[in-house]
Amino acid sequence: MNNDTAIAPALVRSSSLTRSMTVNPLTCSIGAELSNVHLGAAAEDEDLLAEIRRALLRHRVIFFRDQDISRAEHVAFARRFGELEDHPVVGSHPDHPGLVQIYKTPDSPLERNENSWHTDATWREQPPMGCVLRCVECPTVGGDTMWVNMVMAYDRLPDDIKAKIEPLRARHSIESSFGAAMPMDKRLALKAKYPDAEHPVVRIHPETGEKILFVNSSFTTHFTNYNTPANVRYGLDKSPGAAQLLGYLTSQAMIPEYQVRFRWQKNSVAFWDNRSTQHYAVMDYEPCHRKMERTAIIGGATD
Ligand code: SIN
Repeated sequence: MNNDTAIAPALVRSSSLTRSMTVNPLTCSIGAELSNVHLGAAAEDEDLLAEIRRALLRHRVIFFRDQDISRAEHVAFARRFGELEDHPVVGSHPDHPGLVQIYKTPDSPLERNENSWHTDATWREQPPMGCVLRCVECPTVGGDTMWVNMVMAYDRLPDDIKAKIEPLRARHSIESSFGAAMPMDKRLALKAKYPDAEHPVVRIHPETGEKILFVNSSFTTHFTNYNTPANVRYGLDKSPGAAQLLGYLTSQAMIPEYQVRFRWQKNSVAFWDNRSTQHYAVMDYEPCHRKMERTAIIGGATD
């Protein structure tokens, strides 16, 4: 793709010709803001949904401002991209299954799950294809979210690293992330219900065919097929090499040139491709409220 084309603002017409959606890229790497779209109405407009999907695949995370939509409209929009999943630890709204409430308030101790780089729910065999997150209440200052382009992170790896990781697979765990602070019996019950998943380290995007660096520092615990004669001489020298390589790979998410940072307002919405990105919710707003509602769209197998 010509890079100038990739970053030029674009005017996109919907089928009705009564509305025009504009796409304004926020960086040359990732992220675009879409204007003149109401997500409540978009759920009924096939052509507009197709344009939104195109923008999602191209920019990886897309943003919409001033979406004063109901919870039912939020769910209906996300459902146009697939079935929704619940979160086993965070929990859904009682009247809207699949609408997960990520609420941080001054009177409840801040749980620190979102402020680390991650792709949502890679501890599932089939992690979500995408997520739609709406800001219900913002802190006065702070509380931004950052996303990173993991296709770019893969593309820019040195060739020798690309060759080394091509055959590797890795374990992803809910037990060692959401389960870590639980008493042992609860943690083991969580693990029994959601056993660790295994994914390729280099995943192929099912819609674009791009290669994605698919490990993250929140859920990926170790490579499952690193300790082969090619990589290991003696038992004792295997672990440091694998751990260093995994640390190097997960640290690629921290490179600012691959990132976009979004400042929330009430009723801002972010829709991200959960296959090709990671994100980090910056927790710099204590003791303010921050209330977000998220739908996660069930994805497919990673290979
Ligand atoms: C998430 O990690 O899925 C939520 C991100 C956020 O609250 O900004």
